[in-house]
Amino acid sequence: MTNKRTLLILPGDGVGPEVMREVRRVIDWMDRRGLVSFDIGEDYVGGASIDARGVPITDETLARAEAADAVLFGAVGGPKWDNAGFDLRPELAILKLRKQLDLFANLRPALVLAPLVNASTLKPEVVRDLDLMIVRESTGGIYFGEPRGVETLPNGEQRGFDTESYTTGEIERVARIAFELARKRRNAVTSVEKANVMRSGLFWRQTVTALREREYPDVTLTHMYADNCAMQLVRNPRQFDVIVTSNMFGDLLSDLASMLTGSLGMLPSATLGLQDASGRRKALYEPIHGSAPDIAGKGLANPLAQILSFAMMLRYSFELEEEAALVERACTNVLASGLRTADIMAAGTARVGTNVMGESILRELDKIAP
Ligand code: IPM
Ligand code: MG
Repeated sequence: MTNKRTLLILPGDGVGPEVMREVRRVIDWMDRRGLVSFDIGEDYVGGASIDARGVPITDETLARAEAADAVLFGAVGGPKWDNAGFDLRPELAILKLRKQLDLFANLRPALVLAPLVNASTLKPEVVRDLDLMIVRESTGGIYFGEPRGVETLPNGEQRGFDTESYTTGEIERVARIAFELARKRRNAVTSVEKANVMRSGLFWRQTVTALREREYPDVTLTHMYADNCAMQLVRNPRQFDVIVTSNMFGDLLSDLASMLTGSLGMLPSATLGLQDASGRRKALYEPIHGSAPDIAGKGLANPLAQILSFAMMLRYSFELEEEAALVERACTNVLASGLRTADIMAAGTARVGTNVMGESILRELDKIAP
């Protein structure tokens, strides 16, 4: 009998529910095999929650997320809720989850799998074997900084403003995650800011430098301005191992990095909180792609990013490294066999929908499971 772990599933909107269905099948497969079992709860977020309950996420759902060992999130948003108002945006669901659960480290890998090297818009020789990790701060910076608002000036004109702000503690805790990850990879961290323009950027740079001298002298640390980093990511992405950066720059650079791989539909992410005294770490896992309303409900969406997010959960929340690797290998093998969803189609491959992709992964799991 394996341990029961609690898992809250939040499929959300658009393609979220369809790709999540395929994850449920992988979870059922693991359960049948006796590999790992979960106590699973499911709830509304985003537009689905607005429709059912009038808000993008309820306090009850936030509390359930807080109590769970891990949260698996789909995607939120769609044209139906575009005019819901700033305080009722579906996106508030994910922002509130990050903030309320204090999930400050958003891990966004960009990995080019060998069978997909031609799916990138960049030349194969530039992206082949690419494996970088962006660690994006996700509970601070301009996303949450105060003051923010719109005010009327004495001359009658209005002024809109937001605040970028980082404390020593906020910078150090996310940088620690980056340094620790680098130690298990190629031991190199690039810290990204605009120290040439922003006062908080210079503070970020100084804080990361001091932390490295104190705690991680063995890890190579490089500093880079965010604009240069964007350029270097396209010019020569393989120079990077781990990138650590603020909430806003991480949002931009991770979208950019995801396209190096050729498909947003492929990339998972993990958002981690601090470890508590018992070693437990709150965490949320979600694909990098959005709700893709244009293809929602058509059975076309690529379920791989959601399935790979589940694999990240096995690894980071439950230390089930072998099981995580098994799921990842099944995904790679199915791609190598030539099956593709529409987003990663290439000459000489066979096009399949969400369901057949999920089914093929289950068949592959049957084949390769020990
Ligand atoms: C992301 C998204 C979110 C963000 C949106 C949906 C609020 O773009 O996770 O990158 O900006 O953080
Ligand atoms: Mg984004």
